[in-house]
Amino acid sequence: MHILVTGGAGYIGSHTCILLIEAGYDVIVFDNFSNASKESIKRVEKIVGEEITLIEGDIRNRDDLHNVFNMYKIDAVIHFAGLKAVGESVEKPLKYYDNNIHGTIVLCEVMAEHHCKSIVFSSSATVYGDPHTTPIKENFPLSATNPYGRSKLFIEEMLRDLYISDNAWKVVLLRYFNPVGAHTSGTIGEDPYGIPNNLMPFIAQTAVGTREYLSVFGDDYDTHDGTGVRDYLHVMDLADGHVKALDKINNFNEVITINLGTGTGYSVLDMVKAFEKASGKQVPYKIAPRRAGDIAKCFADATYAKEILGWEATRSIDEMCQDSWRWQSNNPNGYKKED
Ligand code: NAD
Ligand code: WQD
Repeated sequence: MHILVTGGAGYIGSHTCILLIEAGYDVIVFDNFSNASKESIKRVEKIVGEEITLIEGDIRNRDDLHNVFNMYKIDAVIHFAGLKAVGESVEKPLKYYDNNIHGTIVLCEVMAEHHCKSIVFSSSATVYGDPHTTPIKENFPLSATNPYGRSKLFIEEMLRDLYISDNAWKVVLLRYFNPVGAHTSGTIGEDPYGIPNNLMPFIAQTAVGTREYLSVFGDDYDTHDGTGVRDYLHVMDLADGHVKALDKINNFNEVITINLGTGTGYSVLDMVKAFEKASGKQVPYKIAPRRAGDIAKCFADATYAKEILGWEATRSIDEMCQDSWRWQSNNPNGYKKED
């Protein structure tokens, strides 16, 4: 079965390609490298011991996509391609709507023209906005607080409308909580451009000495130690969720929406301590003001994923930190050549 993986050279996509190939799927990676390096796929090839078909192209470019669908009989698409920096989306909303929403429209149109109507979409827990309570269930009210989140919400709605218009579509919306960690080889991992926005890469870069200290955004939240609580999820568990979604996609006769999280929340300071334990390094930090738009607590009710996909996260916070540290310490400059 041929699977087109849009954004397959990125952080989550590259890890997912490993498990797809190990599960026997034929993978075609399609990426414009706006936030990824070709090196990630070279390293995935080493891990799996085979060559991967890699096509450089943009999901907004109809010709790029037609070429791929003409070359291969694609059975399903895992759609990771998208921009994901919340702050940048506030500054450049049109860039996000164009890339994420317009890109998904073109992708779906081309898919339909080639009679490929199965899609697994990367949504996000951000679609719950500021949830009224935790753990968060899939049927909680949805809202968005920034253009990035709104692009995810809108794409979810668009894919639901597409199914209503044509029940031949098979759509799985996966709402990820906070993906962290790396493949145990330590050869691939998260490689953000510039100063990381997300907690885990910032902690890892502080431990390795690239950053002087971590700013902890707020210590006066209503949580066990006052710092923000999130559902950190190992990227290999998340990758496994995609393989399980794909395995089952033909059994579904409605749009399926699934939380992918562990169901457990850890605070910023819990993560700092766990990372120090895993790395044997100090992670200096200073308490800073709250970050605009942040919420106190966000963690999943992940029971539906177990029920419908037979999926649950198996890797601990210690494994998340150990694997993240292996990647960061082996590759202090990420995929750049100097390391
Ligand atoms: P990433 O930036 O590492 O990967 C996205 C990939 O898509 C990159 O390789 C990028 O080059 C590619 N891409 C972007 N726009 C493209 C376009 N127009 N055409 C072709 N390729 C394009 O991000 P990631 O962390 O791997 O996230 C993957 C998906 O999961 C994204 O859609 C993201 O919004 C979503 N998501 C991520 C998180 C997270 O915390 N990492 C959480 C929830 C959801
Ligand atoms: C986690 C916690 C911060 C950095 C974001 C997106 C969301 C999703 C995942 C894609 C919070 C604190 C962080 C730092 C800190 N992405 N923090 N110092 O905000 O839960 O979610 O990434 O869909 O849409 O909004 O993740 O890693 O940025 O923050 O104290 O330097 O760490 O305040 O409590 P977040 P995060």
